[in-house]
Amino acid sequence: MYKLAKRATMAQNSELAAMFKMLEEPGIISFSGGFPDPKWYLDEVKQIEAEIMANKKDEALSYGPTPGLTPFREFLAERLCGEGIATKLENIMITHGSLQGLDLVCRIFLDEGDHVIIESPTYIGAILTIQPYGVNFVGIPVDDDGMQVEALEETMSELAKKGITPKFIYTIPSFQNPTGTMMSLARRRDLVRVAQRYGVPIVEDHAYGELKFEGELLPTLAELGGIENVIHLGTLSKIFSPGVRLGWLVAHPSIIEKAVYFKQGMDQCSNSMGQLLALEYGRRGLIEKQIAVTRSALKEKASVTLENLQKLMPEGTSFTVPQGGFYTWVSVPGDFDSVKALGRAVKEFKVAYVAGPSFYHDRRGPNQMRICFSLPDPEIIPEGIRRLAAAVKAWES
Ligand SMILES: Cc1ncc(COP(=O)(O)O)c(C=O)c1O
Repeated sequence: MYKLAKRATMAQNSELAAMFKMLEEPGIISFSGGFPDPKWYLDEVKQIEAEIMANKKDEALSYGPTPGLTPFREFLAERLCGEGIATKLENIMITHGSLQGLDLVCRIFLDEGDHVIIESPTYIGAILTIQPYGVNFVGIPVDDDGMQVEALEETMSELAKKGITPKFIYTIPSFQNPTGTMMSLARRRDLVRVAQRYGVPIVEDHAYGELKFEGELLPTLAELGGIENVIHLGTLSKIFSPGVRLGWLVAHPSIIEKAVYFKQGMDQCSNSMGQLLALEYGRRGLIEKQIAVTRSALKEKASVTLENLQKLMPEGTSFTVPQGGFYTWVSVPGDFDSVKALGRAVKEFKVAYVAGPSFYHDRRGPNQMRICFSLPDPEIIPEGIRRLAAAVKAWES
């Protein structure tokens, strides 16, 4: 074997890849991958694609500007302003998914040995993106109100005593992956205050932010803290299509400039066809329409999932009660090991989830698991939870 980089030797078989593979098992009911339900994609997209091919074929099939197509950036900037985030054209660039946005942030900020604050647990994709930069993760626990900002403040003070300033704080304040929890308004304000006090930027991952089942959204951290202090990552993956691989990075122009520089060396520009498609989908009000469809479908799926978890899981099992997003976070009592139990759950019980330790940089949480309710139909969810409960009980016995 040739001599690989240190980061490559650290790269173990990715759980994300394993998750995609599980979906291929015949007859499986999957609560694993955070996939939108294809039923939410609106049919009008076919017509729009045909129109683009008829009228803008050359642009659609060409390279585009590295920061993204200007009309698409303008459209998104206006939409962000409507959400309370004062965004000018110079503050926004288009990325291939918000994960690329996060990777760009890492390239800009991180040197080997740096410290990065994350929630514990947090999104696997974020761990996989940040880890190769050779950093020290500092995990802050999450409860029903999101990241425990009091714990963050203590940690920051401890680190400061050692002369350490973390490079950034990565957080998913709304409908967090994997816990489904929502950071309270008080905590959002405190987080912005603590970050500013210690001079550390926040990276706000807003992937599920618009998918509240019902009612008003809370202000984003970018609105509360301003985009000089908060780098905001958005995506079309959960509100239009993950297949178009489009997201956006909103930040101070000095950060956008560096991100554009690094993106040139990564992939030059984002998918032009996808940007034209998303722009027209958005202009016709279809993103908002799809969000409305998604919110009400998620509300029903979450309700069926929680009701059946309550009814069928072993006594002492606890789970979060999300107000939006795709996930509930389940903790099973006793010595249940979600990693070891997964193979049998898939093969024998035909049900898939993601094991808890995948979401911790230090692989804690063996008795926890993430249940994603976005994909299965509401009619099939009770059977899925019945299988899940049977798989958990089989471990106990
Ligand atoms: C919190 C979070 N951020 C980002 C992403 C990935 O987004 P994208 O498809 O835009 O790269 C996901 C997808 O599951 C997610 O859960």
